Formats: sequence, C-alpha cells, structure tokens
Amino acid sequence: MNHSEELIKIPSKADVRAPMRRPKIHLKIQDSHEHIVLRTAKQPSASAKSLAPKRTPSDKRQEDHKVAGKREAKRKIPVERGAVLPRRKGIPRFFSKRYTLISDKGEGGQGSVYQAKDKLLNIKVAIKMLPISLNLDVAAVERFKNEAKLAMALSHENIVRLYHFDIERGRIFLVMEYVEGKNLRQILDEMTALSINTVLEVAQSCASALDYAHKRGVIHRDIKPENIMISKDSVLKIVDFGTARRIGNPPLKTENAYVEGTPNYTAPEQFAGNNFDPRSDIYSLGTILYELLTGKPVFPFDTPLETIIETPPSPMPDDIHPAIGEVINKAISKDIYDRWLSAGVFYEKLREAVEESRTREAP
Ligand SMILES: Nc1ncnc2c1ncn2[C@@H]1O[C@H](COP(=O)(O)OP(=O)(O)OP(=O)(O)O)[C@@H](O)[C@H]1O
Ligand SMILES: [Mg+2]
Repeated sequence: MNHSEELIKIPSKADVRAPMRRPKIHLKIQDSHEHIVLRTAKQPSASAKSLAPKRTPSDKRQEDHKVAGKREAKRKIPVERGAVLPRRKGIPRFFSKRYTLISDKGEGGQGSVYQAKDKLLNIKVAIKMLPISLNLDVAAVERFKNEAKLAMALSHENIVRLYHFDIERGRIFLVMEYVEGKNLRQILDEMTALSINTVLEVAQSCASALDYAHKRGVIHRDIKPENIMISKDSVLKIVDFGTARRIGNPPLKTENAYVEGTPNYTAPEQFAGNNFDPRSDIYSLGTILYELLTGKPVFPFDTPLETIIETPPSPMPDDIHPAIGEVINKAISKDIYDRWLSAGVFYEKLREAVEESRTREAP
C-alpha cells in the first residue's frame, strides 16, 4: 500500500487546539483497489457511468429477455396453499408488521445484524436480532431493555443511533441507523496497515465518541474493529452501544462471550468481570490503533487468554516513532491505573507525538 496516495485532511492548528469540538473525520480515501473502497459496487461514480459503453437496441432486447426469464423462474416456485414461502438465503423468517429483512450483515456474540427496510418510514435500518435463547432469560431481557434505554439517549455523530428495542412474535430485536460502509476489520483485511494521518483521524473520532459516552456514564465494553464502521461518506461510527452498561452496574452473564470470542481488544480487568471503567474502552482503542498502525494485532489471534492477560505487548516495530509507541503503549497498559485518564487526553497525546515525530527524527 502506498500511504502517500491516501487523500487525507490533516488537522489544522485550529482543529488541533479544539479537537473535541470537531468530531467528524474525513477519511478521503481514493476509490481504487489499493485503498479503502468505501463506494459500493452498486453506486458507480459519475465518470464510470459516462465511460460505460452505450447499449444498442439488440443489447437491450437481450437484456429484456434475461429479465423476463428471471421473472418466469420466480413464478415457477410452487407456493401451495398454506405453505411457507421459501426462506431466503441466510435470512430468517421474520413476521414483522413494520420491518422487512433485506440482507445479512454478519453474526456476532449477541445475535445477527441485518439490513432491513422500515416500511412505515420507507428508510433503510439495521436490525440486530437477539438470540431466541435469550427469551427464556427474563432478567437478561430486562438488562437489554435498560441498556437500550441508555444507548437511545446517546446522540453523537460518531455513534450509531439506536432507534428502538422491540419484541414481535417472540423475536427480540434492536433497530438502529444503517451504516452503508465497511467496518475496520474489513478495511484492515484489505489494507494491512494505515498511514499515521488516517490512524490519527480514527483516534480523534473514537475519542470524541467515547468521551461523550463516558461523561454520560456509559462504557462501551466491546470496542473492536468489527464495531467501528466508516460510512461511505467517510464518517466514523461506533456500533453496539446498545450492549453498553452504566458505570458501576454488575456485569452481564453473557460477558463470557468475551472469553470465547476475540480477547485481543478486551482490557484484562474485564475478564475478571468487574472493576472496569472508561479506561477499559481506552485500552481497547489503544489495541485497535496499535493494529491500524502496525498491521498486526497486539497479540497474534491464537494467543492463549492467560498470555494476553499477563504478558506485556511486544515493542512497536522500528518504523513507528518511539514517541507514538509510548503513547499507545500507555493506553494498553495492563494496569488500569497506568493508562490515560480519558480518551480525549489519549488522542491529544497521540497528536502531539505525531507532531514530534514530524519535527524530530527518532534518536
Ligand atoms: N448499524 C449497522 N449498520 C450496518 N452494518 C452493521 C451495523 N451494525 C453492525 N453491522 C455489521 O454487522 C456485522 C455483525 O455485527 P454484530 O454486532 O452482530 O457482530 P460483531 O460486531 O462481529 O460482534 P459483537 O456481537 O461482539 O458486536 C458487523 O461486523 C458490522 O459490519
Ligand atoms: Mg457488533
């Protein structure tokens, strides 16, 4: 990857002095296979449209033929009286008056996410279906409701809006803003490491969102690349604040998911199921920035949990300026008391370190 080709707006001095007042990042990244492709295939650029060869009448006839053939094939599906319509691939049957599931976006520890249509408002939404097994656990449903209430009160440009929590015909689900774009995991899979400017922009938006939530007593607890999305308008959005919890509440039973899932981004104190606070999210953000910068997770993905909990991370590669390495390493300290006190301070220190790395060569 060629970092220099990323079109990134470097924060000006004014931005730098008041970072938290300007949370929107502009990852203006070129639309080519070497870079983060945020434009979807369904939306070709204007130039691509104008370059497309014109259709001749014979092309059009052939296409019309194909469409008619497809319609015919659809008609041939036998729908007997009382029979259940065929289940679309990967999408469960969902008898909702208001929502239609359109496509499967992926499955996580707490259910599956679908792109859906809100038929009442005629808008796209994202729906997170919680597992059916949850229905049996009345206390867990109550906790989900309470968490949804907290998340619904959060209104920040870098946090995905949660619209509501609902139950229809025994299916419990959360309806949220649909983000057309990619998550950081998908971006990392395509690009390995990102330039320091992009990392700084990611840090600024995440820090702004986290500070906002933390000030309102909400900790995310599951900050990881899958839960950070970049919209096709290049705005960073943190997903899944719906499973966040008010500071001081007892841990959820479902927290075991962390141990079974990807522990790389989880602060050591969270494994004990207690004693965590906003600095747990700062740890997670640190691990993500480490990975974005180096192209490698702090610990290889198959590292045993005990090693992750006890071993300090390996030193940053030589091509990362030591000042930047120090700031990130402080965020991922094992001991919660050694970390930055707030996400905003973490971002500020990182920005200063980047400036230092530009003015002074590493010793
Ligand atoms: N609001 C949304 N808009 C668009 N896509 C989303 C939205 N929320 C989640 N997704 C996508 O759906 C995928 C599945 O999300 P889900 O939260 O179920 O799994 P996860 O993030 O991998 O794990 P976890 O359950 O621990 O959060 C995500 O990776 C993300 O790309
Ligand atoms: Mg998620």
